Order: sequence, then C-alpha cells, then structure tokens
Amino acid sequence: MTVGASVRRLSAVVWACLGNTPDDSVDEPYRTLGQHSSVGKGGSVEAERKPTGSVIPLCPTWSQLTRLPSWSNRWQQSFPFSDPKGTWAFSGRVALYHGVATLNLPAQSTILVPAYHQGVEIDALLAAGYALRYYRVDEQLRIDLADVEQRLDNTVSALYVTHYFGFPQPLEPIRRLCQARRLKLIEDCALSLFSRDNGTWLGSVGDLAIFSVYKTLPLPHGGFVVTKSERPTTALPPAPRASTFVQMGDLLQQGLRSSGWGRVEAWAVRASRQFAKVIRWNRRQTICSGSDWDPRMLGYGVSPWVARVMHFMDPEAVVARRQFNYMRLASHLRFHVTCPFPDLPAGVCPLFFPIIVPDRSAFQQDLEKLGVQSGNWWEVSHPTCPHELAQEMAGWRHDCLELPIHQELSAAHIDRIAAAVLTVVTRRAHGDDRRLLATERA
Ligand SMILES: Cc1ncc(COP(=O)(O)O)c(C=O)c1O
Repeated sequence: MTVGASVRRLSAVVWACLGNTPDDSVDEPYRTLGQHSSVGKGGSVEAERKPTGSVIPLCPTWSQLTRLPSWSNRWQQSFPFSDPKGTWAFSGRVALYHGVATLNLPAQSTILVPAYHQGVEIDALLAAGYALRYYRVDEQLRIDLADVEQRLDNTVSALYVTHYFGFPQPLEPIRRLCQARRLKLIEDCALSLFSRDNGTWLGSVGDLAIFSVYKTLPLPHGGFVVTKSERPTTALPPAPRASTFVQMGDLLQQGLRSSGWGRVEAWAVRASRQFAKVIRWNRRQTICSGSDWDPRMLGYGVSPWVARVMHFMDPEAVVARRQFNYMRLASHLRFHVTCPFPDLPAGVCPLFFPIIVPDRSAFQQDLEKLGVQSGNWWEVSHPTCPHELAQEMAGWRHDCLELPIHQELSAAHIDRIAAAVLTVVTRRAHGDDRRLLATERA
C-alpha cells in the first residue's frame, strides 16, 4: 500500500470512529434549505444550533481528513506551483517583501495601491522602502482605471492590484495601461489561489504575483511568489521548527473543535499549556501570520513540512468544491441578505462568501453562537491611506462579513451556515435579538 493510501485508510477509520465522515460529493443535487433547518418555522435556538456540538470553521483545518486525496504530485502541476520561477516564503507578505526586490524598481519610487487593502501588504511595501499612493476602487471593488491614470506621474514605477475574494480584476485593460505607461504590474493573489479569469490564471499576467497559500489550504503557514524577472527571489532559511509545531497544533486543535470534539480539544489545550510550561515556551516566540505586522517573519521561508503536506492537496478538487459550496450558499441567501457577488464567473476559485450586514460584530457573535465562524479582517484602513479615500471604503469595512465555503465543507454544512444566517436575519427583522442572546446565555 502507498503512503497516501495508508494515510487515507487510517484517516477514514479515525473519522468514522468520530462519526463525522463527510456525507456528500460535489455532484450531489441541491437540496432545499427546508429539509435541513427549522428557520422560519419558529424552531427553538437549541434545535438550530450546532447539532453535533461542532463549529463550522471559516478556513480549512484538517477536520475532514477523509476528503484528502492520495499522496500525489498534482499540486506541482497547477499554477502558481508549476511556475519554474515560483518560490515559497513564510507567508504572502514575506513573499511580497522579497519579491518586489526582483523588479528592480527605482529606490523610493512610488507604487500605486488600492484604497481597499488588508494593511499587512501595505506594511510590506513600506518596509521594502517604497513610497505609496492610493487609488480608488468602486463599490464592486473593481479598480478605477481613470482614477489610476490621474494619479500617475514620473515617480510611479508600479501598479499594485488586488483580486478580492478570488474575483478577477480586469486584467487586460490593466496590462495595457501598465505597458503604455511602463509600469510594473504586481498582482496580489493572497485571496485568489487557483483562481482564473476564464482561462487565465490570476497571478500569471503581472510582473510579480504573491499568494497566501495557507488561507486556501490547511497549512501551518506558507506564501508563494512568482516573478517574471531574471533576478531570483532571496533564498530564505526554513521557518523555526518550534513555530511550525505550534502552528500545526493550532490547526489540529481547530480541526477537533470543528468536528464537535470540544472535550478532546479542551484536554489537548490543557496538555499543551502544561507542556509549554515545562519547556518554558512563550507563545510570543511563535512566528505566525496575523493581522499585525511582525518583522521577524521577513527572515523566514517555509517549513519543509509544507511541501510534504501539499502532496495531499488536489487543486482541481479544491476549486470544484469551493465553487459548489459558494453557489449553494448563494442560492440560499441571495434573496434574503445583501450578497455583493451572488454569481460566480467561470474559473473563479472563491475564498469566502461575502455578505453585507449592518451591525456586523453583533451579527458575527450571533452566528458564532449558532456554531458558524465568520471573518472580518479588513476593519481599518492603513493609517497612510488619505481620509477621503478611506471614507469611500467605509461601507465595506464596517459591514462586510465573510462566510466559510471552503473545501472541507459538505452541502449539509453549507445548509447549516445558510440556516444560521437566516435565523439571525429573521430574529433581527423581528427585533428579537435580545431573546437570542438570552437563550444562548442560558
Ligand atoms: C490582500 C492581502 N494581501 C497580502 C496579505 C498577506 O498575506 P499573508 O497573511 O500570507 O502574509 C493579506 C493577508 O491577509 C491580504 O489580505
């Protein structure tokens, strides 16, 4: 038996024992929400929440090992990993910091960056020594090319373009503009691994593209960079082993939590805390990608473990499942909640399903109580973004909530997510928020 087959067999046994085997395939026909939920029928909150005590995580966690395909080299045949000039880095921001050096931009020249940004990519460009100037994106998060043109002068050396949630920016006009104005094009694909604009891979058009691989795949960390320059990306030493160990532990812990094994998780957390005390490990020593800027990570590449784990990833299966889940969730929510992107253009590999909800923090907490994690990591503009441009993005920053649609989720999970969202929406519509909170506390 091959290594992959053995691991698969073992994981199938383990997860069968946990009673959490995935229950469907991508081909499963859509079922109606009514079959899975008591939303709108006055069902109790207890009946709706976490049927197995599990939490649906926003990102993949290793909670569904049986979904892993056999050990193979398939991942290496898929862009960006198939690119001979592709290089791993600790994370997307590290990939950007070292990748931008390969472009030979004039020192301290200006890079045009979007007004809607996470913030760490801005920090990486500033740390690399460039001046930044912000440009507009419209209410659908599309680059405003007329605004970009207006902001050009002879200090500008590059245009930085972000493909939000996996959805492509219009690459052809962008490429033409860059060619005409002799600008280098940097594609930020942190949110768009394996995504295509029809047949064109996102990240394959720019002079430089960066990816945040761990956002799409269950990895402890990992960024990737592809450059069209002849100058190679700096070779970096592997991430510290202890950090990788802690990050792997975090992934497994989230996996246990999402599988409804809260008790085992609690025990594992206690045991790992004791162990940390014994070896005097301070968690702050761990290098990990968060929303904050940690300059220590700039010195690290990826752990050798990451390439090993990648052998269990099947890009085609990941894309197919994400697309299926996205469309299923859209079909449940599109007429009840504001969905800025209810349709999925050909080739897009979505990262999350965004919805627009007022009073987002409370909405997010209510969802969490119903066993569904959601995300919002884009709350504030970078302090260097001019106020009037930042203001234009305020709606997205305050109201956008990201829902999970990743490859570890089955159709039943997606229906649970939709039911939870609709529960919160319905209760809000009835002014029933207080009852929800009270019932949850009890
Ligand atoms: C748009 C964008 N670019 C770059 C990054 C940096 O990616 P990483 O977290 O892998 O450093 C992020 C991270 O959230 C991001 O959202």
